[in-house]
Amino acid sequence: TFFSRFQFALTLQAIWTGMCNAAMQHYPAAWGHYDVCKSQVYSDEGLTWDYMACQPEAADMTQFLKVTLDPPNITCGDPPETYCALENPYMCNNECDASTEELAHPPQLMFDIEGRNPTTFWQSTTWKKYPKALLVNITLSWNKTIELTDDIVITFESGRPEQMVLEKSLDYGRTWQPYQFYATDCLDAFTMEPKTVQDLSQHTLLDIICTEDYSRGYVWKYDKTVRFEIKDRFALFAGPRLHNMASLYGQLDTTKNLRDFFTITDLRIRLLRPATGATMVDESNLSRYFYAISDIKVQGR
Ligand SMILES: *[C@@H]1O[C@H](CO)[C@@H](O)[C@H](O)[C@H]1NC(C)=O
Ligand SMILES: *[C@@H]1O[C@H](CO)[C@@H](O)[C@H](O)[C@H]1NC(C)=O
Ligand SMILES: *[C@@H]1O[C@H](CO)[C@@H](O)[C@H](O)[C@H]1NC(C)=O
Ligand SMILES: *[C@@H]1O[C@H](CO)[C@@H](O)[C@H](O)[C@H]1NC(C)=O
Repeated sequence: TFFSRFQFALTLQAIWTGMCNAAMQHYPAAWGHYDVCKSQVYSDEGLTWDYMACQPEAADMTQFLKVTLDPPNITCGDPPETYCALENPYMCNNECDASTEELAHPPQLMFDIEGRNPTTFWQSTTWKKYPKALLVNITLSWNKTIELTDDIVITFESGRPEQMVLEKSLDYGRTWQPYQFYATDCLDAFTMEPKTVQDLSQHTLLDIICTEDYSRGYVWKYDKTVRFEIKDRFALFAGPRLHNMASLYGQLDTTKNLRDFFTITDLRIRLLRPATGATMVDESNLSRYFYAISDIKVQGR
């Protein structure tokens, strides 16, 4: 497919940059905003050169980031705390203790290998200062420009937050723009009409929406992910099964706003209100309310 032609399977930047320079002597220097690369391919006519846009392969970007939490002491375990289940305040068998490795939940556990049993995850302190808001910023910084190639997926170990904002920076954290708002009630939380990515069109793709799709209460406790839908936005240009990536790349090449939309240097997850599973917060047991995240996926190049 066209997409795989674009995914030039060389990970060493030095090598592919070198090849791009070599290719320039034989072919136009640039393809849209990408350099042109060539590779040898076997076909019916024998060995020939294939020309394509120079792009490194899409990769898991969570291996190269720096994570910062604000407030810095918001991670649980110092002092140790006991946690109760949101659905059952008498089920209190989750203990967090930063000084014991098996009971600690530091931020790195959002980026370790998934599929461990038991699950590893970062966890916040409980909402013991209620009614003061339990606010946490999780900032991911790459110190380089990343073009997103797939959905951003945040997997919660706790209930999903009732209010949250995903923000991005394109200038190494100097300025921030919202990417998407998430709430159980968008009007109430952000005075925004609830929308979904399906409401967007080519003309409104850059609109920032509030969605209620990822904030439902504890009856859906097996729904653990919060997404920022990159692929659905790509599909507005490339078709439902992304079969026409050429059309998407054409748009990205010529439209700076669009290209910038999918480009980041930093991401920030602003947790504004934890899952409560009900309209009322049970003030007699605030150990039921907290945030816990087991995984964050960011794919890009
Ligand atoms: C975290 O730090 C802030 C500000 O330094 C302080 O007000 C707060 O009490 C601290 N929280 C804990 C749990 O230590
Ligand atoms: C989080 O980031 C926002 C801006 O993105 C800032 O206004 C806020 O003070 C930060 N800290 C917390 C704890 O919310
Ligand atoms: C970010 O990258 C630049 C250039 O590669 C480097 O000089 C700088 O030290 C880096 N900053 C951090 C905080 O890593
Ligand atoms: C409330 O929280 C404490 C831990 O802080 C726990 O020991 C207790 O069993 C919880 N449940 C109820 C119903 O009080």
